[in-house]
Amino acid sequence: LKEKIREEMERYFGDDAKRIKHANRVLGYAEQIMETESGDRDIVCAAAILHDIGIREAEKKHGSSAGKYQEIEGPRIAEEILKRLNFPEVKIKPVLDIIAHHHSPRDGESQNYKVLYDSDWLVNIKDEVGLEDKEKIARVIENVFLTDTGKQLAKKLYT
Ligand SMILES: [Fe+2]
Repeated sequence: LKEKIREEMERYFGDDAKRIKHANRVLGYAEQIMETESGDRDIVCAAAILHDIGIREAEKKHGSSAGKYQEIEGPRIAEEILKRLNFPEVKIKPVLDIIAHHHSPRDGESQNYKVLYDSDWLVNIKDEVGLEDKEKIARVIENVFLTDTGKQLAKKLYT
């Protein structure tokens, strides 16, 4: 099922190799984090693959790929894909909920949300912070990561 969702994502993004690569890298980190953290594999993997799926509609409708527009457009597209693939009905809502605020954590987030959030940060931290200022990157790692595994992995990779 995971592979099917990946195929759908790749078809949807088409020749946008950068976004396909991003989704696949986030999925890779999510799976790595899930080796030690708990969470629902189906939900986390689906959310990792589809978290940025709203980006094209965001650009088309709102003229911007900004996070908040992705968050508005993403769930509808993800829902259509997951329903078509017979993704377990009870797990669709949690996936859509993660996509709908994947840049804006709230208090008391689910473990599934935390794993996806950290995986996205593991990929984005280089672009968001840069790698020159080691102190800054250490500070960001301390502040943004929501799971111990994600934090350890970020330290290992970037400090
Ligand atoms: Fe992302």
